[in-house]
Amino acid sequence: MAIEMRLRTMDLVREDMVRRRIFADPAIFNAEMKRIFGRTWVCVGHESEIPEPGDFKTEDIDGRPIILTRHVDGKIYALLNSCRHRGATVCEIPYGKTNVFRCPYHGWTYLSNGELISVPYREEFGPDFDIASFGLGRLPRVATYGGFLFVSFGSDGPDLLEHLGHAAPWVDQFSGRAPERKVQATKPVKQRYVGNWKLQLDNFGDNYHPQFVHPAGFGPRRRRQEPNGAGAQSSGPASRPSDVGSRIQRSFARGHAMMTFSPPRSFGDPPKLAEYITALSERVGPDEARRLVATDLHVFIYPNLFIQTNMNHFRIVRPLAVDQSEVQTYACRLVGAPDEYNQANLELTAGWGSPAGFVQVDDLEALTRVQRGLRADVDQWVLFKMGRDERVNEDGDRESNSMTDLLSRGFYREWARLMSEPDRR
Ligand code: FES
Ligand SMILES: [Fe+2]
Repeated sequence: MAIEMRLRTMDLVREDMVRRRIFADPAIFNAEMKRIFGRTWVCVGHESEIPEPGDFKTEDIDGRPIILTRHVDGKIYALLNSCRHRGATVCEIPYGKTNVFRCPYHGWTYLSNGELISVPYREEFGPDFDIASFGLGRLPRVATYGGFLFVSFGSDGPDLLEHLGHAAPWVDQFSGRAPERKVQATKPVKQRYVGNWKLQLDNFGDNYHPQFVHPAGFGPRRRRQEPNGAGAQSSGPASRPSDVGSRIQRSFARGHAMMTFSPPRSFGDPPKLAEYITALSERVGPDEARRLVATDLHVFIYPNLFIQTNMNHFRIVRPLAVDQSEVQTYACRLVGAPDEYNQANLELTAGWGSPAGFVQVDDLEALTRVQRGLRADVDQWVLFKMGRDERVNEDGDRESNSMTDLLSRGFYREWARLMSEPDRR
């Protein structure tokens, strides 16, 4: 209620600019956690992280600890990591395999579907104590799409497929590039930055910055590192800044987005590329295999999943506080592709996204500086005005081929919609 008032009275979001305050005000952050991360579908990783019965990983959404498990019935459960006795967490390790979770405080023991199976000194709780009613809490909804694992603290609202809408076929392309149509996520590199979570979204949708922020990754310095001097399509600040090739950018309903890079950016051919294409051709045919391999695609699923086919990785942004966020980078293997090909992409992702890498670390420095600068005057505006050719395509989605802030405009339309949506109950 309070935030609805503020949305009305403070005029926080306009079509092509947003008030700086939304990145800096703890009250707005708290409202986001309730109305966005506490209600919509949130990505928490990939099902390949917990492939076998007994596998689990722990996560944290807005300070609420959860456990994602694969039970003996083969299903994935999203459990609240909080003992039903006095509330202690029952698991503190990020990944593992177990038949039971035993609370360290008084020994209550739960199965991987959350069922409580053992209470020491149970008779002391009296004859009416029913252990069947004291299983670990379950999140109302858990679902996967394209291997990505989503949970929702909200018990109603659109199902996952409806939520993904027109973005779903683009998500499919990630595993679609694997000869066996499956990817295997590796454990994420986690990096924190001193900045609001939405800055990472804007950075993802921003094709204005790479030539300035990433001269080592995309600009002239990178080109000079390549043996033939042709390592990247961007030609640095000397080129016309809106030269983005025949890139397509689309903004879908509910804040999701995609963009393609055409021609695809190249970091040199990975080893065994021909063998990989042959393996993929066996499933999809040679023409489709070549098309998939040549597609350099970014997909964003609001509010926190970033997928990149280039190097086969995805990222998740995790809000920690109004000015603290974590980016998790998951390098992935394409199942059925040669080991050497996969290994080269894992190493490229490490080079791209690790703290000692040549791309993401520069972005996070830029975001840290934005966060610091915003505080100079939080009533000023952040501008998303670029884009001279925005149009609505035949599917009803907004689209552009130029240097544009189209994607961020879509993020903030969704932000305003979710933040002003009345409580469902
Ligand atoms: S808090 Fe878990 S057994 Fe007591
Ligand atoms: Fe960047």
